[in-house]
Amino acid sequence: MARETERQGETAGGAADSGGTVEARRRRVTVIGSGNWGSVAAKIIATNAAALPSYHDEVKMWVYEETLPTGDKLTSYINRTNENVKYLPGIKLGPNVVADPDLEHAVKDADLLVFVTPHQFVESICRRLVGKIRRDAEALSLIKGMEVKKDGPCMISNLISEMLGINCCVLMGANIANEIAVEKFCEATVGHKGDKEMAQRWVQLFSTPYFLVSAVQDVEGVELCGTLKNVVAIAAGLADGLEMGNNTKAAIMRIGLREMRAFSKLMFSTVKDTTFFESCGVADLITTCLGGRNRRVAEAFAKCGGKRSFDELEAELLRGQKLQGVSTAREVYEVLGHRGWQELFPLFTTVHEICVGRLPPSAIVEYSEHTPNFALVEGSAQLY
Ligand SMILES: NC(=O)c1ccc[n+]([C@@H]2O[C@H](COP(=O)([O-])OP(=O)(O)OC[C@H]3O[C@@H](n4cnc5c(N)ncnc54)[C@H](O)[C@@H]3O)[C@@H](O)[C@H]2O)c1
Repeated sequence: MARETERQGETAGGAADSGGTVEARRRRVTVIGSGNWGSVAAKIIATNAAALPSYHDEVKMWVYEETLPTGDKLTSYINRTNENVKYLPGIKLGPNVVADPDLEHAVKDADLLVFVTPHQFVESICRRLVGKIRRDAEALSLIKGMEVKKDGPCMISNLISEMLGINCCVLMGANIANEIAVEKFCEATVGHKGDKEMAQRWVQLFSTPYFLVSAVQDVEGVELCGTLKNVVAIAAGLADGLEMGNNTKAAIMRIGLREMRAFSKLMFSTVKDTTFFESCGVADLITTCLGGRNRRVAEAFAKCGGKRSFDELEAELLRGQKLQGVSTAREVYEVLGHRGWQELFPLFTTVHEICVGRLPPSAIVEYSEHTPNFALVEGSAQLY
């Protein structure tokens, strides 16, 4: 299958490290997070680290410790069975994955840090890491979401970079973790700021015959795609719960994609249109609207007519896994509110108002009533 963007270097199955930058010391990788995607990421990295001579075999995975119903600590269970029974049951992570409940200890010698926790925990994790990591460490964020600060949105990669003083790339894509765990083919996009060698290191560390990774120089575009599509997935789930059918869902995806692009370009003028055609863009949007957890919980919300809260449904349906779309919708709404742009983004705005109970779930398919300035979106889409 041909790839159109910057190609990966050799894969783990291939020859030596790329780009003539091999260091004498073998690089160590730590995965910060051990949920559903965190565990799959650790599995992929562990396979590649074991095969690539420039990497240390052992891959550490920081675990937010919890006690299982059996009384076992999750960390000891993972290290004993090589399986994350809570977040990725039935999948062996690889014998070289070592779970560690001590964050500072897990990152101590790491050259490469992979952040993969729900976005609401990143800031406190970074606070704990200040002064505890190697100064020349490099980071990659797999986290979908953003923090809203007084002066606008702060992307998670930027938060990591600023708090820890290290470079941070992102990896996003049409990547439902459970499908990758059983090695079904898919693609992903690494977003970087211009350091192509660093981007290629991440491409190499993640590439497998079933996981095809490309790099693009547009870190904000890639990250905003991964973040905003969760809001569209809530809208798609509401439409499913209302049994609206495929035409409606396709319309929601199209309108959502257009709002994703307009919002991203208003926030960062450097965002490229081509990024929306990568795996992180339209492909992730489609898979999330068809099969993700945001869609599933929103479907249940619409089915009960909004009578049960998203928090309650998240706890019941996801059992410890976290929903990102509802908090992202609130964050986007705040940004739009600060700038007086809510009417320009009817889908994003309506999703938030449904989530907080100000509008009924059916409002998602009653655009004309809630979007008096819809034409302005056309204008802004043309402008940007
Ligand atoms: N699951 C997927 O298919 C998928 C795919 C792509 C990207 N992502 C993104 O990856 C990120 C992580 O998602 P996931 O699926 O690995 O996690 P998850 O939702 O499956 O699990 C939640 C994780 O949060 C941890 N946690 C709970 N409370 C915590 C706290 N106070 N501090 C720190 N950690 C705490 C839990 O231990 C668990 O590891 C998210 O940003 C998500 O959007 C997920």
